[in-house]
Amino acid sequence: MQSKLVYIETYGCQMNEYDSDRIRNAVGGMPVDTPEEADIVIVNTCAIRDKADQKAFSGLGKYKHLKARKPDMILGVAGCVAQLYGDRLLQKIPHLDFVLGPRAIPRLPDLISRIEQAKERPVETSYDVEELFEVEPYHREGKVTAFVSVQQGCNKKCSYCIVPYVRGDEVNRPLPEILREAENLVGKGVREITFVGQTVNSWTENGRKFGDLLRAAADIDGLERIRFTTSYPRDITKRMIDAMKDVDKVCRHIHLPVQSGSNRVLALMKRTYTREWFSDTVKRLKDAVPDLAISTDIIVGYPGETDRDFEDTMDLMREVEFESSFSFKFSPRPGTPAAGLPKEETVPDETAGARLMELQAFQKEVTLRKNVERVGKTEEVLVEGPSKHGPESVSGRTSHNRIANFKGPASLVGSVVRVRVSEGLSNSIRGELSV
Ligand code: 5AD
Repeated sequence: MQSKLVYIETYGCQMNEYDSDRIRNAVGGMPVDTPEEADIVIVNTCAIRDKADQKAFSGLGKYKHLKARKPDMILGVAGCVAQLYGDRLLQKIPHLDFVLGPRAIPRLPDLISRIEQAKERPVETSYDVEELFEVEPYHREGKVTAFVSVQQGCNKKCSYCIVPYVRGDEVNRPLPEILREAENLVGKGVREITFVGQTVNSWTENGRKFGDLLRAAADIDGLERIRFTTSYPRDITKRMIDAMKDVDKVCRHIHLPVQSGSNRVLALMKRTYTREWFSDTVKRLKDAVPDLAISTDIIVGYPGETDRDFEDTMDLMREVEFESSFSFKFSPRPGTPAAGLPKEETVPDETAGARLMELQAFQKEVTLRKNVERVGKTEEVLVEGPSKHGPESVSGRTSHNRIANFKGPASLVGSVVRVRVSEGLSNSIRGELSV
């Protein structure tokens, strides 16, 4: 296929960002900055909450006029909304040319030729794609961080979550393939790899466990840092904690969604752990890796959540003091057990909204305080690019995943430097290069 100009609009999680880069390579395309220039426009969608799902529809709707002006332009929908609604999307959106599920990305070249040659409007949402991991992602020259997928799908079946229904069962990628992709990226100048999977630490292959993967990746010469996301609390094992402790390249940050601090709600959500178990896991992690930063996800307003349940969540927030948290109002998703619960269980929107505000206000304070507490400390920062905060400034992230801005030349991009923190802000820190 000759090189096409491709524009991709991405919604949702890191896995979707990674998939967008795979989609770019699957069409052998050259990325362009605006849809007006593109031969192919693809909206890579997210179905995790109702709002995200709506964004997909408005995202597609806004291309109606462009498609009318440029009838040869191909417009496609990819990702979890594509998988969820399938050919119903073609009926709803007349200017749409194809629908591609997250597991079917390797079939994309075939889809494009069916559109160009047979004037079809193909829908490809099969899970049964043998070449599942075959398409590696596009990598922008000069970018020093990259994602590498270690698994697709999810086996956890949390009662509220749509992921297993749109991404299928968990399939783990063989270790040699993971390492080969990581090595290639390091050869292109990447210094930090983030392993991605819906429950990344559940990864297992041929008796190997996630801790073994971390150790194997650490042997890659030229790779400076390893991150991973998202971890499932119940699958934090001793082998994993030992690897985090022993391997210097592993960053001192873990994203560990707890979802609720109430045992009753955790059980309803089918999270397979209790609050006490979670607290103990946090303790084990912090004992092994002093100064570990922990972030989390919280859902408020799960059906049947009482004031008391929410108070338990706030209590956990106060106990753990997460570095940051992402919190959401429960959103019923089609096909999930939680969507079928009796109406009487629904938490009124105002109640859920008030809980969300309270939780977010608390988190804001904690995040700011923790950023301020870094002042005077020296942090290692991988410089990722120029900073928006003035000329001759660069930006990167600390091992704890804090954004750091400081004065320094662009030639530092790709180096890990020492930065003395001078200021803690609500979402970042500032500092000075130190020698
Ligand atoms: N409603 C609200 N939030 C949800 N999440 C997942 N499913 C739902 C839902 N139905 C949140 C969880 C998860 C994050 C990615 O999105 O907190 O960790």
